Amino acid sequence: MSILVTGGAGYIGSHTCVELLNEDYEIVVVDNFSNSKPESLNRVREITGKDFPVYKADILDREALTAVFKENDVEAIIHFAGLKAVGESVSNPLRYYENNITGTLNLCGVMEKFTVNKMVFSSSATVYGLQDGAPFHEDLPLQATNPYGRTKLMIEDILRDIYTANQNWGIALLRYFNPIGAHHSGLIGEDPNGVPNNLLPYISQVAVGKLKKLTVFGNDYPTHDGTGIRDYIHVVDLAKGHLKALEKVLNDKGVEAYNLGTGNGYSVLEMIQTFENVSCQKIPYDIQNRRPGDIAISFADPSKAQRGLNWQAEKDCHDMCLDSWQWQKNNPDGYAATEKQTEVKA
Ligand code: NAD
Ligand code: UD1
Repeated sequence: MSILVTGGAGYIGSHTCVELLNEDYEIVVVDNFSNSKPESLNRVREITGKDFPVYKADILDREALTAVFKENDVEAIIHFAGLKAVGESVSNPLRYYENNITGTLNLCGVMEKFTVNKMVFSSSATVYGLQDGAPFHEDLPLQATNPYGRTKLMIEDILRDIYTANQNWGIALLRYFNPIGAHHSGLIGEDPNGVPNNLLPYISQVAVGKLKKLTVFGNDYPTHDGTGIRDYIHVVDLAKGHLKALEKVLNDKGVEAYNLGTGNGYSVLEMIQTFENVSCQKIPYDIQNRRPGDIAISFADPSKAQRGLNWQAEKDCHDMCLDSWQWQKNNPDGYAATEKQTEVKA
C-alpha cells in the first residue's frame, strides 16, 4: 500500500517524503513541477537511500490521476499540490480557483471512484484572516482576505461536506503557520521562483549576496519592537506533523482541523538578529510601510495537535535559521544549478 503525495516535489512535500520514507512508508509522488524541480526528489532519494515512483502529472488531469490510482495501490493521500502566492492570487484569481479547487475536486472524485477515503490536506493559518488577538485556536470563526485564502477555506468546507455525505472518510485539515528551515543535510529546502515574497527566503538571499537588502514592512505595529510577529515552524517538525495526521486518518474516521505551529511568536527584527547570529552575515534592511493585508500578530494555539495527534514542534528559532542558512549557502541558486536527468513517468 502506498501513500500518494501530491505536490511532493515542493518545499513541504519533499521534506514530508523524507520523513515518510524514513518511517518505511511506500510513497508515490504526483507533481506537475509548476513550482518545483524534479531534482528535489533526487535529493530525497539521496537522503533516504530509497526509490519511489514519480508521475509528472497535473491534478487537473483526471485521466492522469486515474492512471496513477490504477497503477498503484493507494491507501491515503497527503495533498500538498496547490498554488500559494497571495499577490498572484489577487491578480489572477481564476488560475488559483481552478488549480486549487478544481484540482482538489478532481482528486476527491478519483479517490471516491477507487474507494480511497483518507486524506491529509495542506490548509493554512491564512483561514483565520484578520483576528484581533493571538493565539489562534481551531474553533475561531474563519475568514479569508484574498483568493488564495478563500481556496483554502472553500476546500476545508468541501472536505467537510464530503465527510458529511460519507462518514467512512478520515480527513485532517492541517493549518500551517509559517514554515521555514530546511532538512539538516542541507540537500533540500525552499527554492522560490524569482524574488521571494516571504521573510525567511528573502533574508537568506540577502545573506548569501543574491539580494542587496531586506525591506521590513512596518515598525509601527502594536508589538514590543513595532514589527510583525509570526509563529515560525521548522519544516521538518511540520513534516513530522503530517505523519502523525496520517496515522490519525488511517485509524479514525472524521474530519478535524489542527494548527501546526509552535505557539511562539517572533518579530521580524528578532528573526533578522537570529539569522545574523547563525550565519555571521550582516542583513542590511530598510523600514518601509506596512504590506497591505498583513496582520500584527499571528501565532498558534497548538494544543489540539498535541492532544489529538500526539505531536508538538521540537526545533527552535535558532535551529530554523541555521538550517535555512545551511541550505541557502550550499544551494545559492536552489536546485537549478545542479539539475540532473530524473526519471519521471509521463
Ligand atoms: P510548493 O509550491 O513548494 O509546493 C507545491 C507543489 O505542488 C509544487 O511542487 C507544485 O509544482 C505542485 N503543484 C501545484 N499545482 C499543481 C497541480 N495542479 N498539479 C500537480 N502539482 C501541482 O509549496 P509548499 O510551500 O510546499 O506548500 C505546499 C502546500 O502547503 C500548498 O498547498 C500551500 O498552499 C500550503 N501552505 C504552504 C505554506 C507555506 O508557507 N509554504 C503555508 C500554508 C499552507
Ligand atoms: C504570508 C502570506 C500568507 C501565507 C504565509 C505563509 C501574505 C500577505 N500573506 O504570510 O497568506 O499563509 O505567508 O506562506 O503574503 N516581512 C517583511 N519583509 C519581507 C517579507 C515579510 O518585513 O520582505 C514581514 C511581514 O510583514 C510579516 C513577516 O515578515 O510581518 C512574515 O511575512 P511572510 O513570511 O510573508 O509571512 P506572512 O505574512 O505570515
